[in-house]
Amino acid sequence: MKNLIRLLVIGLGLVLLSGCNGDPRSARGFRLPDGDAEAGLEAFIDMECNQCHTVRGEELPIIPGQDPPYFELGGEVTRVKTYGELVTSIINPSHKLATGYAKEVIAVGDESKMEVYNEFMTVQQLTDIVMFLQTHYDVRIPEHRYPTYPYP
Ligand code: HEC
Repeated sequence: MKNLIRLLVIGLGLVLLSGCNGDPRSARGFRLPDGDAEAGLEAFIDMECNQCHTVRGEELPIIPGQDPPYFELGGEVTRVKTYGELVTSIINPSHKLATGYAKEVIAVGDESKMEVYNEFMTVQQLTDIVMFLQTHYDVRIPEHRYPTYPYP
């Protein structure tokens, strides 16, 4: 029993230590400068993100020849879409695919169908687009109703 406790204490210590050292690939400390939402809308249209996306609450020009499905960005979500998540979805779309769609609709295998813009999108455009998109997400905490006895 004593040995077991000793092992647990050592194990816990190791876990804590590894947390302190940190993963060199961690995003901790990552912060881009704030962008400008209006310039973000312009960049969104310049980059033709509206080929595949609509944005809740925004009338975007239709690109002729493009067929739906469009993937809506913005709208109600149950938790804040973080800056890091939005940046990642734009510069590394296959890292974590959007939820709420059948996988075959949004990806080929594990690869997102989204184009990669990294060769030509400027950092300024990226930060502006993130600022623009963030203003279109609306966090709604779902209301939980617990049934009370007697059940209706
Ligand atoms: C060829 C179609 C296409 C184009 C063009 C495109 N996307 Fe996407 N995008 C997708 C698809 C499909 C998904 C869902 C799969 C995924 O998460 O990568 C997606 C997902 C996203 C997401 C994550 C949404 C979520 O709810 O997690 C963001 C943000 C996004 N796109 C932004 C952009 C921006 C900004 C541009 C332009 C710079 C762009 N997209 C251009 C197809 C496209």
